[in-house]
Amino acid sequence: MNVLENWYCSTSFWRWMTRARLLPWLLGSSDLGEHLLEIGAGAGAATAELRKRVPHVTSLEYDPVAVVRLAQKNGTGAGVVQGDAAALPFADRTFSSAVAVLVLHHLRSREAQDRTFAEVRRVLQPGGRFFAFEISEGWFNRLIHTNSTFVPVQPDALAARLTSAGFAAVTLDPRPGGFRFTASRSA
Ligand SMILES: C[S@@+](CC[C@H](N)C(=O)[O-])C[C@H]1O[C@@H](n2cnc3c(N)ncnc32)[C@H](O)[C@@H]1O
Repeated sequence: MNVLENWYCSTSFWRWMTRARLLPWLLGSSDLGEHLLEIGAGAGAATAELRKRVPHVTSLEYDPVAVVRLAQKNGTGAGVVQGDAAALPFADRTFSSAVAVLVLHHLRSREAQDRTFAEVRRVLQPGGRFFAFEISEGWFNRLIHTNSTFVPVQPDALAARLTSAGFAAVTLDPRPGGFRFTASRSA
């Protein structure tokens, strides 16, 4: 993450956008179950809102500094865990649902993204659903990721990649500049 991204993801504007626009679009009225995994929580733009919707939320974040800040913000025992999305530190079938907002393009390679898909499937309960929002390939998105990681996920290949990771019922919904997708771990 570069300085611009760190700043933007911490703003009250992005928190508002996430709460008022992004999560309603991404999640709709879906039943998220009892225990949701938030992947790449960052500064926590989605965390408080997810906690209103689901009894238990575990927020995973790779950056140790962000982990400490998020845990401080949310109080001790708040379910903030340091770890890598591509090697999730959780037992099989722990979660009823999983959410990743603007995280996959920050993984270092396509292989790391595929490992993440397989890991998310592993930790989901049968029937559990994975929801993600990603930005598209394009000069503007490359520019704002200067000195950062940007491995865009190609929407065309996504259904095949998720299916080979063991997901079913993949949905993909493109919008200008980005797209959401959902996928289910087969029951
Ligand atoms: C653009 S930020 C999005 C943060 C938050 N989801 C939001 O919407 O504000 C991407 C986040 O993914 C985290 N991240 C990057 N690689 C990761 C990995 N391998 N495992 C878990 N989190 C990762 C970054 O540290 C960063 O906090």
